[in-house]
Amino acid sequence: MEWTKERRYTRLHEVEQEEIAELSKTVNESPWRQSYHIQPVTGLLNDPNGFSFFNGEYHLFYQWFPLGPVHGLKYWYHTKSRDLVHWENIGIAIEPKDYFDSHGAYSGSAIEHNGELHLMYTGNTRDENWERHPYQCVAVMDRNGMISKREKPVISTLPKGYTAHFRDPKVWKFGETFYAVIGAQRINETGCVLLYSSPNMSDWKWEGEIKTGLTSFGYMWECPDYFEWQEKGVLIFSPQGLPPKGDEYHNIYQSGYILGEKLNFEDRSLIHGDFKELDRGFDFYAPQTMLDSMGRRILIGWMGLPELVYPTDRYGWAHCLTLPREITIQGDQLLQKPVQELALLRSEKVEAKVNIDNNTVEVAGFCGETYELMAEFTEPSALMFGVELRVGEKEKTIIYYDQTSNKVIFDRTYSGEPFATQYGTVRKCHLNASALKLHIFVDVSSVEVFVNDGAEVFTARIFPKKDSTGIRFFAQDGQVNLRATKWTIDKR
Ligand code: FRU
Repeated sequence: MEWTKERRYTRLHEVEQEEIAELSKTVNESPWRQSYHIQPVTGLLNDPNGFSFFNGEYHLFYQWFPLGPVHGLKYWYHTKSRDLVHWENIGIAIEPKDYFDSHGAYSGSAIEHNGELHLMYTGNTRDENWERHPYQCVAVMDRNGMISKREKPVISTLPKGYTAHFRDPKVWKFGETFYAVIGAQRINETGCVLLYSSPNMSDWKWEGEIKTGLTSFGYMWECPDYFEWQEKGVLIFSPQGLPPKGDEYHNIYQSGYILGEKLNFEDRSLIHGDFKELDRGFDFYAPQTMLDSMGRRILIGWMGLPELVYPTDRYGWAHCLTLPREITIQGDQLLQKPVQELALLRSEKVEAKVNIDNNTVEVAGFCGETYELMAEFTEPSALMFGVELRVGEKEKTIIYYDQTSNKVIFDRTYSGEPFATQYGTVRKCHLNASALKLHIFVDVSSVEVFVNDGAEVFTARIFPKKDSTGIRFFAQDGQVNLRATKWTIDKR
């Protein structure tokens, strides 16, 4: 199919039912449908939106283009869950059909106010010359799940000094005041974050730009998020336009954080350390956090990136969301661990304890297509040691530690159907450690690896053959002790 502009901006209800049924059929023929990750029924999913806890349930929305695996007219799609693990598809939450969101209900966030969930998002519009005019809008969900848009946008003008790349409000409340950070671009085409405040979610005041030390760091910062943790402040954002540097910034766009003192709301200065990528893998972008009713800070990201062709495209769908991660801070670093509720997915368990001596070994019971794996490597003398997943005749996905360079390495060169290879097929990050603990979640077409209790995370889509289900552990040039536990995750 050719994705003309008309086609990309066709509304779901303008399309015949038979066509949607045909598309669903193609999607369901895909060998790479995920089993326990949030994925679109058809079409393309991108950023998580409006992640919140309201009326006893987690609510999670996402950017959705229903008609195919391309970025077209974006809707907000709604899912909800009681446990962050089992999600129920609710359906469309925000339809882009008003003058202020005619070309897409773009990303945003949610907050409870007056007993209702307020969804603040960017209305993307284009004029007859295809110039962008963004509006910041609010829709309100009541306790019965009914969603209605405010009649008018809450922010209709661009602050002076910034371009029309002005989107993705993330809202929170301090005391009696609501604040929002919004991704922006200065007229000199550098990215930044703007701060707004409101007493009531309706009247918004421009406070100004958040002053970071990163005055020229990419051309646009998308999807900002600010939160505080004890005495620290954290600003997350997704900068576009960073050139690769050493092992960093190898994906088309990045997402990461700066951590430091709390934001000074008087002069909007943020004193912070270096920008750090949130994920060291291949497919991660536009994350959003929320504070849950137990006081946990939880993050979910888009397991995908814009502008790349993925093997599922030919089956009429693209992308999924990451598993929810609990965030804590240790020193000047964020730690990210899979939320403990994910244990609800565990079924059959196998365990092993082996010494591996310059060898590659298979262990009885260790194989599968969808599972959770905990592998602890201790007392290594081996120069390299690690694990191979989704191993088949010609396929394997390798995660290992290299003691010579002190790096964790994720290699998807042989993972299955290749894609996005122009951005490389290996990702690395430095990690000083005398032992390696890998906590891994494997789904039909993804791998998420939490290294050493969340010090680093690698996320990747992979597209192996269905029967590539082997697991092998290895040590090269020396020995390592391995303790491993695997839980099957039953396919839904
Ligand atoms: C990030 C992003 C956002 C925008 C949305 C549109 O992936 O470009 O900046 O709101 O996607 O779908």
